This record gives sequence, C-alpha cells and structure tokens, in this order.
Amino acid sequence: MSTAALINGKQKAQELTVTIKEATLRLKQEGIIPGLAVVIIGEDPASQVYVRNKKRTAEECGFSSTQHSLGKDVSEQEVLNLIKTLNEDSAVHGILVQLPLPRNLNEELITQSIVPEKDVDGFHYINIGKLAAGDLENAFVPCTPAGCMLMIEDHLGKDLSGLHATVIGRSNIVGKPMASLLLQANATVTICHKATIDVPGIVKQSDIVVAAVGRPDMIKGNWIKPGAVVIDVGINRIEVEENGEMKSKLTGDVDFDEVVKVASAITPVPGGVGPMTIAMLMFNTLSSAKNSQ
Ligand code: GUN
Repeated sequence: MSTAALINGKQKAQELTVTIKEATLRLKQEGIIPGLAVVIIGEDPASQVYVRNKKRTAEECGFSSTQHSLGKDVSEQEVLNLIKTLNEDSAVHGILVQLPLPRNLNEELITQSIVPEKDVDGFHYINIGKLAAGDLENAFVPCTPAGCMLMIEDHLGKDLSGLHATVIGRSNIVGKPMASLLLQANATVTICHKATIDVPGIVKQSDIVVAAVGRPDMIKGNWIKPGAVVIDVGINRIEVEENGEMKSKLTGDVDFDEVVKVASAITPVPGGVGPMTIAMLMFNTLSSAKNSQ
C-alpha cells in the first residue's frame, strides 16, 4: 500500500527563515532593523511556548524583538495604552497580541487598536477586507493560513482551478482566511462547521482538506478521497498510555495513521503547520519593515 508524502513544514520554515535573514541583512545596510513587538497577557502555558518560539525565530532572523508580558488582571486601558505606544514607535514594524486573552479583556477592541500597517497577524478589519476582496499584495494575511497555502502550492501549484477544497472550522484566525486564500487560487471551496450535515461526505469529495477544528484525530481515513492533500492545523494535547504510564502528547485534528494511507500528501503534527505559522509572521514583519521605507 502506498503512503502519503510527508509535508515537512519544519524544513520549509527553516528555508524561509534563511531567506528572511538574508533580506534582513540587506535592509540593515539601508539602516532599517525589522522590529517585532509581542504582547502576552496572563499565564496560558501554550501561549507562553508559542511566544517564546516567535521571539527566538525573530532573533534568528536578525530582527529586534521585544516582549511585553502583562498580568492577567491588567486593565483594558493599560493594554490600549501600550498598543498606542507601539503604534507610534517607528522602531516597531509588527505588533502581535497573543490570543486567547483573559476573559475580562475585549479581544475585538484590542486587536482592532493595532494600526493596520503593523498588524502582522492580519486580524485588523482593513486586512481582513483586503484579503476577502482578493487584494493580497496589500494585505497582511493571517500567518497560519498563509503558511498552509505555501505548503499546498508546493504540491499542487499556485492555480487550484478545478479542485475542490474543504476547510473544516470557521474561525477568524484560520478557517475564514484559509477559505479566502483557496478561493483566490481558483479552488471551489466549502467550509464545514458545527452545523454542517455530513462532514465526512463533503470531505470525501475534496482534493484538498484543511482541518482547523481543535478535536484530536477527528478526520478519519475513510473520509478522505484517495490522493487528496491534507493539511492538519490542529495542535491538541492528549494523554496517552505508554508502558503503563500516562504521557502527554501532541496530536492533530487528523487521524494521521489512517489518513496517511489514503492521501497523497499530509502534514505531520508537530512539524507541519506550526513552524510555518512562525515563518509567515517573520515574513509579514519583514514586509512591514520594507513598507516603512
Ligand atoms: N493564538 C493562536 N494562534 C495565534 C496567532 O496566529 N496569532 C495570535 N496573536 N495569537 C494566536
């Protein structure tokens, strides 16, 4: 039985990082150092890990990187004041507020307070609007879908004409922007969500499947059209028994062991989408620094 090609996001992200590092060196000769400011609020352990990785990669790229860690009880006004300072700081080209936020803070108010020109997450309504309208040249595209798209292009090319792509999950961070990107690349796009009837039946007709749900191993092998390209955005921490001991392990939304036997290409978890998300954040920050010239 044939098995799917593994899409090595880790390697591709490293290659991108090298290119970004070289471009950063050239920009530095013109007196510009790309600056990324990361704001983290509270103590969510997963967020701490993500932010640490973002900071480390920014430094690897030669960026100047600052981290602003605020306690979970910080007031909304204090967060808005910090963002205002960063908006006005010419050494900062990218601002990112790590989500999710503590419940007492208004996520919409905070993400929309970042000026669109520094919104390297692509969460500002101006950037969402540009993406929805197909103006990719001038939009910051959210990092996870942007990274997924590069991996899909590697296998299928830039033009997805005639192909059916299904996105499972309709979040603002992944599902909706992912669908916009696939549509822009000429795919015929379906978005599945909680209220969709017969998700397996829709997935079965799909040449491209992007899973972004947050439910471990939900997508089964018998859902997949033979030869499909499968991108697993899920990062779920589960407990598994190993030699009589319970161990914590990361798993995606796709039942990898089953789907790998049916798909033509698949991303692993970890080592697939995750590193690409960080690489695209660096790409957006570099673009923002170039735009500031
Ligand atoms: N939390 C999970 N993914 C993301 C992301 O891409 N950006 C931010 N800011 N927070 C996140």
